[in-house]
Amino acid sequence: GAAVEVDISALKPGEKMTVEWRGKPVWIVRRTPEQVAELPQNDDKLADPKSLRKPDEFTPPYARNEQRSIKPEYFVAVGICPHLGCSPSDRFAAGAQPSLPDDWPGGFLCPCHGSTFDLAGRVYKNKPSPDNLEVPPHMYLSDTRLLVG
Ligand code: FES
Repeated sequence: GAAVEVDISALKPGEKMTVEWRGKPVWIVRRTPEQVAELPQNDDKLADPKSLRKPDEFTPPYARNEQRSIKPEYFVAVGICPHLGCSPSDRFAAGAQPSLPDDWPGGFLCPCHGSTFDLAGRVYKNKPSPDNLEVPPHMYLSDTRLLVG
C-alpha cells in the first residue's frame, strides 16, 4: 500500500494527531518527557511489557523497546483495538470513569470491552485485547517529516 508522508512540525508535547494509512487510523502521539519517564513504571501491570507476543505482526524491530518507538517522545500506532476492532479513546485518567481501575495512570481506553493501554500502546493484564496496539512500519525523513508505511 501507499506510504503516507506526515508533517509533524505542529504537534506539541501532549498532543495526538491522526492520519489515514491503508484505510486505518494511525495515531502520532508526542509524549511529554514526564510521560516517557513513567513508562517503565507500568511494566508489572502489563500483559506483554516487552512486546514479545507476535512481534512480527505488532511491533517492528526498531520499536521493540520500552517506548515502542524510534524516538522516545513520538509514539506511532494503529488506532484500532486488537480485540474486536473498536477505536480506543486517549488518555482518560482513573476516576474519569467509575469503572476504571484506580491504579491505571491513563493512556488509551477501548470503549467496547474496556481494554486499557499505556502510552506505549501496551495492554494491561486481564483485559480482552490479546495484543498491544500495532505499531505500523514507519521512518523519519527529517526531524519534522514522518513516513508511515
Ligand atoms: Fe477493544 Fe473489545 S474491541 S476491548
